[in-house]
Amino acid sequence: MFHIKKLTKSYTDAGEKRTILNNVSLIIAAGDSISIQGASGSGKSTLLHLLAALDKPDAGSIELSNAKLNSDSDITQFSEKQADNYRRFQVGLIFQKFNLIDCISVMENVMLPAKISGKIHAEYIQELLHSLGIEQHVNKLPNQLSGGEQQRVAIARGLAHKPPLLLADEPTGNLDSKNSDLVSQLLVDTCKQLNTALVMVTHSEKVALLTQQQWYLDDGRLTQI
Ligand SMILES: Nc1ncnc2c1ncn2[C@@H]1O[C@H](COP(=O)(O)OP(=O)(O)O)[C@@H](O)[C@H]1O
Ligand SMILES: [Mg+2]
Repeated sequence: MFHIKKLTKSYTDAGEKRTILNNVSLIIAAGDSISIQGASGSGKSTLLHLLAALDKPDAGSIELSNAKLNSDSDITQFSEKQADNYRRFQVGLIFQKFNLIDCISVMENVMLPAKISGKIHAEYIQELLHSLGIEQHVNKLPNQLSGGEQQRVAIARGLAHKPPLLLADEPTGNLDSKNSDLVSQLLVDTCKQLNTALVMVTHSEKVALLTQQQWYLDDGRLTQI
């Protein structure tokens, strides 16, 4: 489904070039669950940004084969408009800071990407809220919820438009260990149930073990553990 081939990305800092990702390759098949660990600053977020078409690599490609569209395309070559469309329909994003909009209700937050993509599946959203155990909170504002509950709302929002791929950047990094275990298990289970591929960056080895594949980013290289 996603074929990441030899991605290279560097930044120039004070005139010095630093290679963050060095020939990174990875295949993400439909429904795969993959965790990525690595030290702080090792390039984990950079890799997710490339996968979300929020940034461009120096070299390499990310080939997306979409059975529905019956076309193959390289995400790294997308125009702004194509990248926009890609994010609207093909990926969901979850961050460490939940990034919910505080002045609108939980339900409105969850519905946002579905509204933008024009794909509103009311029954599916209800099931999602039920699976994540947040249906009783839909009319509240995000800041009326605990951190763990807010992240469950962010998971629902990330999945609301039925993307084939969900990208999660340290999704439980802001939670205590009990909530981190609970929320990461819910995240993995929900993706599995929906056959959504999951790429999750995490600092926790315990959380990483919930996914089918464990990868490690070090010195620009991505290797499977
Ligand atoms: N836009 C940028 N310009 C310059 N350096 C950057 C930029 N974004 C990230 N970096 C650097 O790239 C490295 C990897 O960052 P990041 O992908 O955020 O790491 P991680 O998510 O693994 O902690 C860090 O050293 C960071 O400072
Ligand atoms: Mg990061």
